[in-house]
Amino acid sequence: MPELAVIGGTGVYEAGFLSGVKPHALVTPYGTVEVQIGRHEGTGGGGAEVVFLTRHGIGHSVPPHRINYRANIWALRALGVKRIFATGAVGSLQERMAPGDCVLVSDFLDFARERPATFFEGQGAGGGSGFGVVHTDVSEPYCPELRRVLRQASEATGVAVHDGGCYVSTSGPRFETPAEIRMFRRLGADVVGMTNVPEVVLARELGMCYGLVAMVTNYAAGMTGNPLTHAEVVETMAENVRKIRALVWRALGLLPAERSCLCGRNLIVVGEPPAAASAGEGPDAPDGSVRENRKQVE
Ligand code: HPA
Repeated sequence: MPELAVIGGTGVYEAGFLSGVKPHALVTPYGTVEVQIGRHEGTGGGGAEVVFLTRHGIGHSVPPHRINYRANIWALRALGVKRIFATGAVGSLQERMAPGDCVLVSDFLDFARERPATFFEGQGAGGGSGFGVVHTDVSEPYCPELRRVLRQASEATGVAVHDGGCYVSTSGPRFETPAEIRMFRRLGADVVGMTNVPEVVLARELGMCYGLVAMVTNYAAGMTGNPLTHAEVVETMAENVRKIRALVWRALGLLPAERSCLCGRNLIVVGEPPAAASAGEGPDAPDGSVRENRKQVE
């Protein structure tokens, strides 16, 4: 079973760093997800299987507010994935984070509205079993071990990174107003994007490690006096995508075999687990990992 995955954001549509890539379609309780699975020859002794998923679908056809985040993350977990490297295009709120720079994101502010943001809808809610009530710890939302490995990848490849940064997630698909950007900066945001929440949260709910390499494609609204365009985002991404590829490819090869972080162990369960979960229909279903997590906090 593949334990590693890469989620490619804007401009990262190819699993070119993998060999023997084959398409797979997975049916999840939230919809069908198409992924590619190939081998990363640089991982461990004999290489490793890696799942590649394009967040915006084939040809960037799905806008941020329509992405089926729950189906995507569920599909990865069902395949056996435990660690995810994700990429994303962002606007910068800080002069020192310039277009073309990579940021290893370490925290988030959630301003994304009206999108399902949890697997745990309470018993009977969410159109089915609901999987109970769970309050997930996000004291450290991005896996510190994956960030450390990405830092090592930066040293090994010479691709400079900003180590740490706060990502504010908006709903999109419109860009922000200058007033919103001023507010987000006051609140502590460094970069802005439209997709990372709930993706990072859903991964944590299922006990997976998640690391994000954000590529700054533009200064945020109101910072330069120029209007923002998706074309500018895509162009800057295309010019710099080799940096992201180098970092992620190298990071995959530097991962320790076993996880030493807490990402798989910090679910807090309130109330009784619903019957559906013990019957294997809830988030326990892929391989029982959520149930294991529960035991550890009980
Ligand atoms: N705002 C929101 N999302 C983005 C931006 C931005 O300025 N640039 C790239 N993705």
